Amino acid sequence: MPTTKAEQGVDGQRRQFLSRSLQWAGVCFSLLLISPLLRFLGYTVKPKPRYVTVAAPLPLSGYHAERDFILFAGDDEPFVVSRTCTHLGCRLNFLEDKQIIECPCHQSRFTPHGKLISGPAKKNLPTFTVETKKTDEGTISGYVVTL
Ligand code: FES
Repeated sequence: MPTTKAEQGVDGQRRQFLSRSLQWAGVCFSLLLISPLLRFLGYTVKPKPRYVTVAAPLPLSGYHAERDFILFAGDDEPFVVSRTCTHLGCRLNFLEDKQIIECPCHQSRFTPHGKLISGPAKKNLPTFTVETKKTDEGTISGYVVTL
């Protein structure tokens, strides 16, 4: 049992040090326990890629519109752009006479390659990869679009 004031001061500091050490240990232990939960909450599963096959030949217009994308034959190679407007998500239409992709909701306009011409959309259209399938003779038999 401390008898002098100096001994009481040292004892008080020791208690305070032990108390703070226990508090920090408690905080560290709590973080250790909830870290798996935080990791679980922030974990997102990437969707599996979806493959859509489009039969060849494409129409004479040179494009094929599906629900989620528009496939263009292109001069050199085919290319695919999303049909979902980058403004609020309406489904886009390709206007063949004007050679633009237009949104029916607020009239955002894009080039066939998905580059923004006029808003209110602020971003270009996403593009998807397309693989050309050929027969043994070298003629195009179809296209596989990866979404
Ligand atoms: S949703 Fe396409 S311009 Fe608004």
